[in-house]
Amino acid sequence: MTKTGSNPEKTGVNSSDFHSNCGGVAGAVSHAAGLAQALAAGLDRLDAHLLLLRALERPASDRAWLVAHDDDAMTAAVACDFAELCRRRAAGEPLAYLVGSKEFFGLALQVDARVLIPRPDTETLVRWALERLQVWRPARASGRSQSGSESSSESGSVADAGPRVLDLGCGSGAIALAIAANLPQAWPATRIVATDASAAALELAQQNWGRLRQPEWPTVDFLQGDWLEPVVGTFDLIVSNPPYIANADPHLDALAHEPISALTAGSAGMDDLQKIVAAAPAHLRRGGWLLLEHGHDQAGPVQQLLRQHGFAEVQSRRDLCGISRCAGGSWPGSSGGGPGVLSTRPYKV
Ligand SMILES: C[S@@+](CC[C@H](N)C(=O)[O-])C[C@H]1O[C@@H](n2cnc3c(N)ncnc32)[C@H](O)[C@@H]1O
Repeated sequence: MTKTGSNPEKTGVNSSDFHSNCGGVAGAVSHAAGLAQALAAGLDRLDAHLLLLRALERPASDRAWLVAHDDDAMTAAVACDFAELCRRRAAGEPLAYLVGSKEFFGLALQVDARVLIPRPDTETLVRWALERLQVWRPARASGRSQSGSESSSESGSVADAGPRVLDLGCGSGAIALAIAANLPQAWPATRIVATDASAAALELAQQNWGRLRQPEWPTVDFLQGDWLEPVVGTFDLIVSNPPYIANADPHLDALAHEPISALTAGSAGMDDLQKIVAAAPAHLRRGGWLLLEHGHDQAGPVQQLLRQHGFAEVQSRRDLCGISRCAGGSWPGSSGGGPGVLSTRPYKV
């Protein structure tokens, strides 16, 4: 189960060690001494460096600066902030929440307890999505859909200038923004829609979008609602990393700081995957693809689900550890929706 990636377990640490840095002694404690204290109490070196940089309000990229300034004395405020961050890390809070950001596909995403911390495994899903977009072709212009089969007239009266992409359960915005940032250059007019059931997650996703967006990126529209319920229209590509952990999975203890609504999906962890696979065909164009991340032991059931619902070319992708973590297929039939990506309930912060 790789949603345990933040390595939060630091049991046996005496968090009061850190509080001795606060108050009267603070001004006398150097960066090096504070770091040594954190390491002695059981924190990883990298974590301790990043937490001290956070307390110093310096960027995470300043580790070299920290080494060069190891004799500098901490102010009382920095010492207290560092002590508190170390205490929280020792108690199991993920580093990404404490420093407030997580790198995903080269993007420094802001994260906090409103959203799942994006995992490296999910980069596999993004790479697959970008592969699919690389071979996308306008249906009307070429007379063929992106899968190479003859196109239908469902895309409207004019040729689309770019593919339409839907990210279901966007959380921090990781997948939608990574796609926006890495689109094949041929399709600048791509339209991306990102949805989530959680208003709090959408708020953060929109903040990430507003902070990171570049002029050459396509627009990302955000919608709130239950999977495909708020979505109107059809897409060339639907991607999702939905909750897929079983309700009683023992690994959940290690994920206690992340929103449970981003993690669990019924007794076998398949409830949300089932809902998405069942609802996606009505929003896929002929030859469009549905790509899903799933648990390490769910490749077979998800592939079976896709075949049962009529998907073709069903296949999987492995993560960097060689484990099948994504499954997907193309939609061979006509879609149930009309063109466009407008929602009945657009989300606004
Ligand atoms: C595993 S997280 C993935 C977040 C992000 N896409 C990523 O990869 O980091 C699943 C996301 O699905 C959202 N979610 C859960 N149930 C949902 C539902 N019924 N409809 C829409 N989104 C849902 C959660 O709020 C959460 O943000």
